[in-house]
Amino acid sequence: MKRINLVVNGIRHSVEVGDSALLLDVLRDQAGTTAVREGCGVGACGACTVLVDGMSVSTCLALAERYDGAEIRTADGLPADDDVVRAFVECGAAQCGYCIPGFVMMTHELLSENPEPDEEEVARHLEGNICRCGTYTEICRAVTTAAHRRAAR
Ligand code: FES
Ligand code: FES
Repeated sequence: MKRINLVVNGIRHSVEVGDSALLLDVLRDQAGTTAVREGCGVGACGACTVLVDGMSVSTCLALAERYDGAEIRTADGLPADDDVVRAFVECGAAQCGYCIPGFVMMTHELLSENPEPDEEEVARHLEGNICRCGTYTEICRAVTTAAHRRAAR
């Protein structure tokens, strides 16, 4: 076991992790960030995505011990009036909601890198995220809605 420090949504957590502990499990079980979801468990669906130092990471593939000192953002830590979440709700971009935290975090990454993405750029950035309900049209609309609102501010 090894002790590591994670800053999760601004709160410092000091946790003991084994060699094979996954960041997904540490975030859910030890940091209490249950918006981080396990979908496929093999890096193919995006449900478990968080931002580590601003970059998206599939936590189901990430060994926790490698993230000692990392600054992690999850959907749990977004403010109640988060503009991306609001756009997803308004555009009906969710059915089960299982996949949505991953989409929302990927959208935050996209908009911080590219504030006004076109539809193709949205689709390309989100291509690793799977929505089994097929709400991709609404999700794309939500991303562009959030982008337009930020641009208008
Ligand atoms: S649960 Fe991690 S990519 Fe699917
Ligand atoms: S809304 Fe979650 S799989 Fe579609």
